[in-house]
Amino acid sequence: MFRKLVKGCLLATACLLPAIATAQSAQSDTVKGIERYRELLADGNPADLWEARGEGLWKETRGSKKASLETCDLGKGPGVVKGAYTELPRYFKDTGRVMDLETRLLHCMVGIQGLDEAAIKRNAFGAGTNRSDMEALVAYVTSESKGIKMKVSIVHPREKESYAMGEKIFFYRGGSHDFACATCHGESDKRIRLQDLPNLLDKKDAQRAYTTWPAYRVSQGELRTFQWRLFDCFRQQRFPALEYGSDASIALTTFLAKNANGAAFNAPALKR
Ligand code: HEC
Repeated sequence: MFRKLVKGCLLATACLLPAIATAQSAQSDTVKGIERYRELLADGNPADLWEARGEGLWKETRGSKKASLETCDLGKGPGVVKGAYTELPRYFKDTGRVMDLETRLLHCMVGIQGLDEAAIKRNAFGAGTNRSDMEALVAYVTSESKGIKMKVSIVHPREKESYAMGEKIFFYRGGSHDFACATCHGESDKRIRLQDLPNLLDKKDAQRAYTTWPAYRVSQGELRTFQWRLFDCFRQQRFPALEYGSDASIALTTFLAKNANGAAFNAPALKR
């Protein structure tokens, strides 16, 4: 295992340079370059490190209540991790709220383990040696859904409400540039600078985009979760910072996750 990881990390560094070089020449070369290092890393994605640490954290006795997360109910019963991510977000009776994976983990870490909510939120996105437990836990839980088809249900009235709200936010224009998500993600074959923009209203693109998060971002050397993806797009949209775990973030996730239904989940993935 360790050898495989080391090989993966070395390759990540070695392959980054040619990828940067091609990025400067042409878009198609960039895309090919990224494809190429994805292939090379297929059996050694550095995300493995986050998954392993997350599994350890899931099982570790922590917090003032000295408990592990092994009784945490992610929607399929206490402790069931397998396939749980493919059915999230969902309505949880015990909180009376639709929750995505991250808000649910936060709920368990606070309720079951007695950890400090504000501290977890402050460290939701790690940087270098300041590692995020949340990112590691998300990597572990999502890895247990790899290969399983997305199956988000919109049956409970609160789930319907969340989906409708997510759809509304997707088309809502505002901010200094009058952008909506749809401005950048509502048409096919668009791109900004050198990055292809998925058309999130197209079934295939939406499925590919959603099922490949979380992802190890080579450009950041970090594993990033879906809450981070939305946070960063709010920034690109020149909107106020997206509050971590807010109803708005969960609504957008519900909208995008449901639209990915039927596709096999394929993350933690690898992105530029
Ligand atoms: C100003 C343009 C812009 C706006 C507005 C924008 N995004 Fe993005 N989005 C991007 C770019 C650029 C990327 C690709 C970034 C990269 O490759 O690093 C991206 C990537 C994504 C991805 C991941 C796609 C993938 O295949 O990995 C998702 C999901 C996403 N955006 C959702 C949203 C949502 C939801 C909104 C509205 C809140 C939004 N975006 C608003 C520019 C935008």
